[in-house]
Amino acid sequence: MFVLALVAQKGGSGKSTMAIHLAVEGHRRGMKTLLVDIDTQASAAKIMDRRGEDPPDVTTEAAGRLEKAIEAARSAGYDFVVVDTAPQADRAAAQAAKVANLVLSPVQPSIVDLDAVDATIDVCKLANVPMMFALNRVPAQGQEIAGTLDAIRKRGMQVSNVRWGERKAFRYPFMKGLTAQEVEPGSKAASEVKNLFDALRIPASTQAHIGAGAHVLMETGAPARRSASAQARMKDGVKV
Ligand SMILES: Nc1ncnc2c1ncn2[C@@H]1O[C@H](COP(=O)(O)OP(=O)(O)OP(=O)(O)O)[C@@H](O)[C@H]1O
Ligand SMILES: [Mg+2]
Repeated sequence: MFVLALVAQKGGSGKSTMAIHLAVEGHRRGMKTLLVDIDTQASAAKIMDRRGEDPPDVTTEAAGRLEKAIEAARSAGYDFVVVDTAPQADRAAAQAAKVANLVLSPVQPSIVDLDAVDATIDVCKLANVPMMFALNRVPAQGQEIAGTLDAIRKRGMQVSNVRWGERKAFRYPFMKGLTAQEVEPGSKAASEVKNLFDALRIPASTQAHIGAGAHVLMETGAPARRSASAQARMKDGVKV
C-alpha cells in the first residue's frame, strides 16, 4: 500500500484538487484507492460525494485517528491511499506526514506561497518523510516561475518536472464530482494528471497484482528526496 499525503501550509495551493485528481487516477489505473480527508472543512470529501457510489472510496477522519484509519485501509486491501489535509494545521499535517510514503506539496508561483514553504518543509523533516513539491496554477504565459523553482531548490528540496497549468478543466468537473481526465481525456490537464501520477513513482510491487494492464512508471518527474535515515527505513521505495 502506498500512502500519499497532500501537505501545504498555504491555503488554496491546490491540495484538494491534486488529492482528488490523483486518487481518481489511481483508481483508473486499477489500484484499490481510498481518499482520506482530514480537513475539518471536508471539501475534498464533499466534492467526491457528488460521484455517488462511484469509486474511489472516500472517508473523512479526525487527524488524531489517521494512523488507525491507515491501518484499517491496509487490512482492507487498499493499494493507494491519498490523504488530504488542511492548511495552517501543523499538528494534523505532521500526523499525515508521519503515515505517508511520500508528501506532495503543491505550490503556486507566488511570493505568498513561497513564504509558507519553510513551514511545510519543517513539518516533513520532523516526520522524516520523502517530499516533492509540484508547481500548480502556472499561468500560460507571463509570470516568471524561475524564482519559485530556485527558492525551493535552494532549500535542498525536489520540485517535480511536472507542472499543472491554470486550467478550467481542473475546476468545473468538480461540480459533478468528476475530474479533468474523466471529462476531457485528451486535454492538457489530463496529461498533467497522468504525468504527476507517474512522477510519484509508486513502486511496481504496489501495483503488481493489477495484471497485464499494469501501469509502467515513466521518467517524467524528479524522485522525491530521501534523507539517509528515511532511506534506511525504506525498502523498494516503501516505508517499512
Ligand atoms: N491548476 C488549477 N487550475 C485552475 N484552478 C485550480 C487549479 N488548482 C486549484 N484550483 C482552484 O483553486 C482553488 C483552491 O484549490 P484547492 O481547494 O485544491 O486548494 P487547497 O490547497 O485544498 O485549499 P485549502 O488549503 O483551503 O484546503 C479551488 O477553487 C480550485 O478549484
Ligand atoms: Mg483543501
